Order: sequence, then C-alpha cells, then structure tokens
Amino acid sequence: MNENWIVKQTLSGVSQFDQSMVNSYPDSNEYLQNARAYLNTVGEVCNYVDASKKLDWAALLPQGAEVLDLGCGGGWLTAMLSRVDSVKTVYALDSSQHFLHKLLPEVMTLMEGNAEKVVTLEALFQPLLFEESYLDAVVASSALHHADNLESVLKGIRRALKPGGLLVILNETPRTGLRFLVSVFVASLRILRNLATRRYMPVSPSISSSGYLYDPDLGDRDYPSWYWLEALKRAGFAVEAVMDTGMSTVKGSKGRPLIHFVCRAV
Ligand SMILES: C[S@@+](CC[C@H](N)C(=O)[O-])C[C@H]1O[C@@H](n2cnc3c(N)ncnc32)[C@H](O)[C@@H]1O
Repeated sequence: MNENWIVKQTLSGVSQFDQSMVNSYPDSNEYLQNARAYLNTVGEVCNYVDASKKLDWAALLPQGAEVLDLGCGGGWLTAMLSRVDSVKTVYALDSSQHFLHKLLPEVMTLMEGNAEKVVTLEALFQPLLFEESYLDAVVASSALHHADNLESVLKGIRRALKPGGLLVILNETPRTGLRFLVSVFVASLRILRNLATRRYMPVSPSISSSGYLYDPDLGDRDYPSWYWLEALKRAGFAVEAVMDTGMSTVKGSKGRPLIHFVCRAV
C-alpha cells in the first residue's frame, strides 16, 4: 500500500498571515475580522490606499487588461482596480483563506468593486501557474517583502507577464545606503546579546547578505533599495520610476515613506 502525505503536509505548512498577525498583535483581530474596520485601517489609519491613488491606473493599464493582485490580502486594491474600465479581470491571489473567502467579498461590496471581474486564487507567490505571457499587469502592495527569495518570485512574475507588461510594486518601505547598514548593525548587536545571555527564541530574526528577516512569524523582510533594483534587473524588468509617495505607513507618523516601483517586463 502507498500513502501520500505530501499534499496534506504542504497545505498544513502554508502559514495563514491573518493568524500570525493575531498571534503577534492580538489587537489586529478586531480589524481583521471586520471589513469596515479593515478598510478603516488600510485607508484611514494607514496611507496604503491614499498612496496607491498617486498612480494613474487608468493610464497605466491597457484595454482588456488581465491583472494579478499578488498577496492581495483583504482585497482593497483588487476592488479598486476592478472599477477601472479598461480592466477585464483581476486575479486576487493570497495564501490566506480568511482574507480571500471572508474579508475580500465584504470589501468588494463596501468599495463597490465589480465582482464579475474578480477571480480569487488561494495560492502561493510561486510558482505562478498562469500560461507564459498571459498577464498584462501584476500589482503587489506591501506583499513582496514577504518573499523568501525575491528574485525567484520576480522571475515567476516576469514569465507570466507579456513582454512590455506592467509590474507595480506598491507600498514598500526600503531603506537606502547607510540607514540600512546602521539598522542591520543594531539588529546584529541585539542578536549577539540574545546569544550571549542565552535568551531562548523559538523563532528568531536573521540577517543575511540579501536582507534582514526582522519578523519571522509574519515573514517580514527588510531589503535595501539597491537590492530591490538589482533583483528587478536580474529578473528581466526595466524600472521606469521609483516613486517616493512622501507618505508614511501610519498617517501622521514620521516613519519611512511608502515607495512604489513602476516596472516593465523587458
Ligand atoms: C502585509 S499583507 C498586504 C496585503 C495587501 N496587499 C495590502 O496592501 O493590504 C501581505 C499579504 O501577502 C500574503 N502572503 C505572504 N506570503 C505569501 C506567499 N508566500 N504566498 C501568497 N501570499 C502570501 C499574506 O497572506 C498577506 O495577505
């Protein structure tokens, strides 16, 4: 007799972002369970929605556009893009079942999105199972810094995009030059202190030459700006614009600005 556990094991190994959020930040449960509160967080407390409006979507997206919203979360960007006339389909991809099946439909209704244009995809960043050169555009808001291997995810996106297709990476907060080095230096001192004092950490931050995994539960990574640009180039993208929105993640705070990378598949 043969048994195959691989599918079940893989499914059980897919982390659910919303659950990790609640474990790390119990307060987030309230807004993750309620579409109105979720929209209030991304749109009123934070600048994600406002910063995304700095892009002229109608001008960027071609007629009949097949668009992928990678790591769509609760789907505010999916809903927004489904309202753009030239958009034919928005594939809303995320590994979180709660976001896709509970929050996103309610967000679509509240934002008056066009549900007929939306296809939800419970999936991982890679491999993307679209046919080669199928998509006109890929958008990813505050999502790609969760990629274990940025270049390999970008190569998968490049493969799924038509030549000349659009990739917009939105709402990332990369640090530049010395600021990145200083933040990693401080983090490495913290790691050394934990080791020296035998402070037990079941999962711990890690630093590598490609970036700094500062929250292993959520998979949050800090890549410096130059690393984003190099990974994009190596994956076959030309960066048309790096847009500094001048807006911090949380409204009224002095944090790092939200940055958009507007790129074309070469
Ligand atoms: C910080 S949230 C951003 C959500 C949304 N795009 C926004 O701007 O509000 C990151 C999202 O990426 C998803 N995600 C993280 N790693 C993923 C992976 N490997 N495959 C698919 N989705 C992933 C999470 O479930 C989460 O919804």
